[in-house]
Amino acid sequence: MKDFNMLDDLEIILNTPKSWLITGAAGFIGSNIVEYLLKHDQNVVGLDNFSTGHRSNIDEINDSVTVSQRERFNFIEGDIKDYNICLKASHNIDFCLHQAALGSVPRSISDPLATNASNITGFLNVLSASKESGNARFVFAASSSTYGDSAQLPKIEDEIGRPLSPYAVTKYVNELYAEVFSRTYHMETVGLRYFNVFGARQDPAGAYAAVIPKWIASMIRNEDVFINGDGKTSRDFCYVENAVQANIRAAHMELKSNHEIYNVAVGHRTSLLDLFKHIKHSLGEHGIIYEKEPIYRDFRPGDVRHSQANIDKASIELKYCPTHNIKQGIAEAMPWYIRNLSAKELSS
Ligand SMILES: NC(=O)c1ccc[n+]([C@@H]2O[C@H](COP(=O)([O-])OP(=O)(O)OC[C@H]3O[C@@H](n4cnc5c(N)ncnc54)[C@H](O)[C@@H]3O)[C@@H](O)[C@H]2O)c1
Repeated sequence: MKDFNMLDDLEIILNTPKSWLITGAAGFIGSNIVEYLLKHDQNVVGLDNFSTGHRSNIDEINDSVTVSQRERFNFIEGDIKDYNICLKASHNIDFCLHQAALGSVPRSISDPLATNASNITGFLNVLSASKESGNARFVFAASSSTYGDSAQLPKIEDEIGRPLSPYAVTKYVNELYAEVFSRTYHMETVGLRYFNVFGARQDPAGAYAAVIPKWIASMIRNEDVFINGDGKTSRDFCYVENAVQANIRAAHMELKSNHEIYNVAVGHRTSLLDLFKHIKHSLGEHGIIYEKEPIYRDFRPGDVRHSQANIDKASIELKYCPTHNIKQGIAEAMPWYIRNLSAKELSS
């Protein structure tokens, strides 16, 4: 894997300051994008309503950059369901990297209306506001859930199945809207189909936490770890720096057409059982020894069995080149979890 810092062409891409709107800036992926852009002296507007994101993520960003970089950051607390807020946030931007959405398949099954409101109405508001702001290029967080029940492996952008959850429907509708806007209003739109992104600041708390932060938290606390299904379910786990890189490239690269969709992943799949071993091993390197065996329970409705991306399209057209595999990503993210979970434990 290439070192992200050694990707010189990215440095060249970013050597002229531009104005970026990052929605979902207080969330996991959004906050990592904001931090990267500020560290490269870009002008950034962040928009978030803190529905699943955290003020502590904004504080962490501010603490990690210089005073002059911080001055280039304008954070707006607001809801993308409010079109006027989206218009205000989009004023004079060059690029919109739209990350705000309610994630999680199970959340969408228990509350499809809330998921629809943020993920479809909110999406349309941000897309329309980008159009009004002078057709800023619109890059958005699409999802591997769009592959639905397609059994094909690895997943190729053009071949999708039927959606398996309300969340997957919303992410597919996003792609349809983006395509129609690019055709109707000549906007440039790029959908990045993320495959199980993980890394520092991914929330370990709550019923809808993703598997990696949830398991790290359970192991640090010496609690039981549950595997849904037989442990052979597999995913193409993608470290967040790979996703940040894909966003910057998608904003800048010349596109073949006004609307493109790219897989953002590593191109390998890891079973849940192997994931369990990787996390356990990484914690062991920090002196945290987890000795329990995982507990198996039923498969979860709406979950796909296997997921693995073909990343050729992004590699060729965006020059996307993942810098971290799953083990490297877990190793890099682990100190953040140990620091933050231990701090919370001590203060509670
Ligand atoms: N993490 C993954 O593995 C993954 C995989 C596929 C797609 N995605 C997509 O990537 C994007 C970012 O996901 P994440 O993992 O960082 O999740 P996250 O929950 O950490 O971040 C989403 C952010 O959007 C904000 N938000 C939600 N609804 C909002 C609204 N109505 N108005 C304003 N802000 C709102 C939340 O407060 C949160 O800060 C989402 O669109 C998600 O669907 C993520």
